[in-house]
Amino acid sequence: MVARMKSSPELSGLDKSKKTDSITEYLMSTYFKSSKAEETEKPSGGGVGTLQLNSRERRASAAVLEEVSEGLNRLTELGDVSRTALMALQSKLKNWTFDIFELERLTTAPLYVMAEWCFLGLGFFEALGLDKVKFRTFFFAADGGYMPNIAYHTSTHGADVCQGMFHLLTRGGLGAHVTQTTAMAMLIAAGCHDMGHVGRNNKFLCDISHDLAVRYNDKSPLENLHAASAVQLLHREDSKFVRDAAQLKEVRRIVVDVILATDMAYHAEHLNKLDAHLETGPIDMAKDVDQGLALRLLLHTIDCGNPGRPWDTYATWTERVLEEFYEQGDDERSRGMPITKAFDRDNQVPKAQFQLGFIGYIVKPLFEKAQLMKCVDLAEPLRMVNENETRWKVAAEEERKVAAERAAAEEAAAAS
Ligand code: CMP
Repeated sequence: MVARMKSSPELSGLDKSKKTDSITEYLMSTYFKSSKAEETEKPSGGGVGTLQLNSRERRASAAVLEEVSEGLNRLTELGDVSRTALMALQSKLKNWTFDIFELERLTTAPLYVMAEWCFLGLGFFEALGLDKVKFRTFFFAADGGYMPNIAYHTSTHGADVCQGMFHLLTRGGLGAHVTQTTAMAMLIAAGCHDMGHVGRNNKFLCDISHDLAVRYNDKSPLENLHAASAVQLLHREDSKFVRDAAQLKEVRRIVVDVILATDMAYHAEHLNKLDAHLETGPIDMAKDVDQGLALRLLLHTIDCGNPGRPWDTYATWTERVLEEFYEQGDDERSRGMPITKAFDRDNQVPKAQFQLGFIGYIVKPLFEKAQLMKCVDLAEPLRMVNENETRWKVAAEEERKVAAERAAAEEAAAAS
């Protein structure tokens, strides 16, 4: 695969006219920049509450790190059976159908394991002269940097996006268009892109004047946290695994750029920019501007891309993301704030209809537009998105039928 990568000198829209129901309203208000968010009245007495930011790297004590450097087997404390299972899983690393939850079952640090597999798979330790011990320290700390007790934004999600990026670089053919340094930066960004996530969205953090919102002036507080955490770790003496100063600078530039671009508020902007570009000509990955646009869009696409994974994997992600939404809804209720649409566990939006909205407005346009860039093959994820969408359409029909029957029964009861 490395041979397919350029060895350069340096190693080197949403259709807003669509009818607005509660689901699309939620999608719009959550994923599209509007001045409305800023206009929202702040709840009185809002504060940081129980959210904490300082438990990152909780597992990365010096003693444990020493142990980690000695090898994966001791970290995961696996018996022979699990080790065999891990190796079998590793052999499927390039597959889009990779079972990330199997990795989660087999290890306590899925991002750490995933990153090591990806870097080994691309021969980066030798090719880029990386410090392997510091690499392990970096990714062990990054894995531990994901907060515990969060349903969706866990280190398993970081590992999943990292694997998705690895798939794009290898099977997807993206690796042929970027330098090894850029490919490495994209894997780091993918793995770290949600590090320290607090399980609430940006709007909530701004509304309650959370520490992060205050620190980052209400501008992408989460993504700023993720990017800054990754960069700090890249520069920390014991985890500074990129030895070359110029290379580190380039990695840092890309990591910050693409992680900040994962803020859903920029979703429409990414698509509009691509549309405008494609009207003037194809994406030319040899040009920095085009490559930047493509890489931002691709990380964002993989980040939202669980509806393009096999059904069982996607269904698990859906359960997790909904649980995280409901936990934010619970928090909003307890603070006396208006509950975000679709975050209310006592008044749940029908799941199939919600997922159809997410796929139709967000995920499918992303995969379809990204495919037009022609620097990566997304045929397999696109086929799976379509298959999953078809399944949800059937489920949505059933949801509507059940709702209609319930409404009729309630009407009849009221009339009698
Ligand atoms: P975030 O990680 O900030 O960026 C991508 C967003 O996509 C994520 O937050 C969720 O809000 C959203 N998301 C991911 N998967 C799903 C899903 N299956 N259903 C609805 N929203 C999702």
